[in-house]
Amino acid sequence: MAFGNNATRVFFFFFALMVMFATSTAEDDDDASGVFDITKLGATSDGKTDCSKEIQEMWNLACKAAGKARVLVPKGEFLSGPLNFSGPCKGDVTIQIDGTLLATNDLPKYNGGSWINIREVKNLVITGSGTIDGQGADVYSKDPTKAKAYPNSLVLDFVKNGTISDITMLNSKFFHINIYKSEDLKIKNLTITAPGDSPNTDGIHIGDSSNIDVTATTIGTGDDCISIGGGSSRISVTGVTCGPGQGISVGCLGRYKDEKDVTDVIVKDCVLKSSTNGVRIKTYEDAVKSMTASNLTFENIKMDDVANPIIIDQNYCPEKVCMAKSKAVVTVKDVVFRNITGTSSTPAAVSLLCSDKQPCSGVELIDVNVEYIGKNSETTAVCNNAKGIAKDTLQALACLS
Ligand SMILES: *[C@@H]1O[C@H](CO)[C@@H](O)[C@H](O)[C@H]1NC(C)=O
Ligand SMILES: *[C@@H]1O[C@H](CO)[C@@H](O)[C@H](O)[C@H]1NC(C)=O
Ligand SMILES: *[C@@H]1O[C@H](CO)[C@@H](O)[C@H](O)[C@H]1NC(C)=O
Ligand SMILES: *[C@@H]1O[C@H](CO)[C@@H](O)[C@H](O)[C@H]1NC(C)=O
Ligand SMILES: *[C@@H]1O[C@H](CO)[C@@H](O)[C@H](O)[C@H]1NC(C)=O
Repeated sequence: MAFGNNATRVFFFFFALMVMFATSTAEDDDDASGVFDITKLGATSDGKTDCSKEIQEMWNLACKAAGKARVLVPKGEFLSGPLNFSGPCKGDVTIQIDGTLLATNDLPKYNGGSWINIREVKNLVITGSGTIDGQGADVYSKDPTKAKAYPNSLVLDFVKNGTISDITMLNSKFFHINIYKSEDLKIKNLTITAPGDSPNTDGIHIGDSSNIDVTATTIGTGDDCISIGGGSSRISVTGVTCGPGQGISVGCLGRYKDEKDVTDVIVKDCVLKSSTNGVRIKTYEDAVKSMTASNLTFENIKMDDVANPIIIDQNYCPEKVCMAKSKAVVTVKDVVFRNITGTSSTPAAVSLLCSDKQPCSGVELIDVNVEYIGKNSETTAVCNNAKGIAKDTLQALACLS
């Protein structure tokens, strides 16, 4: 490959250092950022030429630089295959995307992995007025049973202290953002968009991570806007507008044998628009391992034409292979739904489908007033094995025991 030999690498290294010093001010100034503009290594902004090598090389240089480094994707369209943004880095790296990164549709290049994989980086910033475009349209139309092989767009593994803000994410081939074993992240002011019928295009999936804040973000995709998986704690979702999509979910839980508890989740000040679910907790009926989801609060939420505005489903079993013979259970307790209003597109505005093996406990419905907007039926609730209290809630929805 053109950039594979050492001489070329050394050349690029010194070239990039020159670029860096040319664009930064006094070195001892704390705010000075070395700018690592991908076009300085020859990345072509025609949206057709593969720029993976140049972008990767710029990351490598920025990650080795002391102080603050800024990888810049300037205006223009830059096509790329998988990018391995691994740390630890010497200083703090910002990735500034002002143009558009386009994911290649040459699928074998991903080799089963992700598109942009950020790993073991601390003090990370991703920002800019630009777009990360997964170009998923090509794969959406193909056999959906093979969809699991497609790459997530932006993956953060073992990232500590980071901010992702302002960028747009479009048409991921699989999840738009996947966060794993990460801590102290702020995600704000993102726009995440994919067609409502695109498979597995979750907006943001969080697993095995703690202290993650998502704020002021608009998500419309073909799957969950936000899903919070096993091992997540201190997760806060505020000011998110979701739809189309499958809503904001905790789960699915109970699928993996090393899965850990989910605790301290708050979802507030959100709007759900024409989504299939509003706020949902879903757990496998025949869990692989016993675990607990507790202290989950959903408050100040507006439902607009949502099919299942409030739903706990402990009998989730999409593969239809559940025999309910597992002894393991996912315990769901201390779940508060407070100040949830608006409209449901199906009569059952509340569904609390808990298991007879392990009823849900400590469920509170407070100020829950969601009404079915269709004709020929009243608003209803379906509750199985759900224990708790209801207060200031539409009479028909107050179905706890
Ligand atoms: C990614 O880069 C890191 C650090 O350079 C390296 O250790 C790792 O093997 C790379 N991973 C892949 C999948 O290429
Ligand atoms: C977190 O990362 C940001 C951005 O690099 C940095 O400014 C800040 O000092 C870091 N905070 C901590 C506690 O390390
Ligand atoms: C949100 O992001 C957009 C697009 O990058 C930007 O124009 C806007 O200023 C940002 N808003 C805030 C409050 O930062
Ligand atoms: C429940 O979670 C919230 C954060 O969402 C936290 O502030 C609160 O202390 C937790 N409550 C308990 C009893 O742990
Ligand atoms: C209830 O939630 C709505 C947003 O859906 C908010 O505007 C209103 O202030 C909340 N009411 C209270 C009492 O917090």
